[in-house]
Amino acid sequence: MSKAGNPQSVRVMGSSSTMKEWAAAISLTIGAAAVGYLAYRTLYSKDKCRKSLVNLDIQKDTPKVVHAFDVEDLGDKAVYCRCWRSKRFPMCDGSHTKHNEETGDNVGPLIIKKREA
Ligand code: FES
Repeated sequence: MSKAGNPQSVRVMGSSSTMKEWAAAISLTIGAAAVGYLAYRTLYSKDKCRKSLVNLDIQKDTPKVVHAFDVEDLGDKAVYCRCWRSKRFPMCDGSHTKHNEETGDNVGPLIIKKREA
């Protein structure tokens, strides 16, 4: 069979490139785009952060953890957990210190107290 009869060596209209060369170029371009996209998602995507959990084990059987207190019942001082690691949640038990040491985080409690007269 002559070389001119090989479909992979057919010249694209007026071009000096063959179909095989075009297919290779397109495949290379698509591959490079895919690798670039995956690298971007891995390195720069904020989706990973949005999907991480704050609440690891407090009342996981409820759709939303909510606590309400009357101001009159707070006493002189109330210390509430904001790190979600307290064993006495929603009250702070000091677990934020260990959490901060382990993670490099800087969370601490919310302290509500009556103004001293
Ligand atoms: S234990 Fe969570 S803020 Fe103190």
